[in-house]
Amino acid sequence: MSDPYRLAVITASVRPDRIAPTVTRWFLRHLAAHTDAAVDHLDLAALDLPGDLGGGADAERFTKRVERADAFVVVTPEYNHGYPGPLKTAIDTPYEQWRAKPLGFVSYGGASGGLRAVEQLRTVFAELHVVTVRTGVLIPNVHDAFTTDGELRDPGPARAALAEMVGQLDWWTRALARARQERAYAG
Ligand SMILES: Cc1cc2nc3c(=O)[nH]c(=O)nc-3n(C[C@H](O)[C@H](O)[C@H](O)COP(=O)(O)O)c2cc1C
Repeated sequence: MSDPYRLAVITASVRPDRIAPTVTRWFLRHLAAHTDAAVDHLDLAALDLPGDLGGGADAERFTKRVERADAFVVVTPEYNHGYPGPLKTAIDTPYEQWRAKPLGFVSYGGASGGLRAVEQLRTVFAELHVVTVRTGVLIPNVHDAFTTDGELRDPGPARAALAEMVGQLDWWTRALARARQERAYAG
């Protein structure tokens, strides 16, 4: 594994008036204080992935970027107690390129802070042999959570969770990279 490791940050919402960029920008700004990982930002709104109605011009490029990553963070809202459909398309586009790598969550929504979306995603990623880290960053009541300059009004809990999550990601990234180097993961 190269040092610093490569962290792919995936922004899941593709809605035209999404709040996702505010959340992702906040995360990336504070992430830098806890790791020197080289970030590759994969914004699903900017990618053409294969859907039921065709498309998919970026499928190969997306798969390559997942392959190059040593670890992942998914920034996701909660929609009807689930996660966005385009995120499922993105997850289903690569396959073994996800394997034996760690992943953390930044989630947001109403009172639950996106927790139900995250719990569903843990089962999906388990199927792909992705190790999801325990601590996630939750941003409840997201539409009231940010000041106009993009900081959290109550930064304490989310900043503490971010530091903890990045510590867990860092540990798993190095452990799994070493293990993958020693022996190919058989699945
Ligand atoms: C179709 C839809 C369903 C939603 N369902 C939930 C929900 O079940 N739980 C929740 O906490 N928030 C829910 N919300 C609120 C969203 O989490 C909130 O609008 C958030 O801004 C969405 O992220 P985005 O703006 O980046 O797309 C829903 C929003 C939409 C558009």
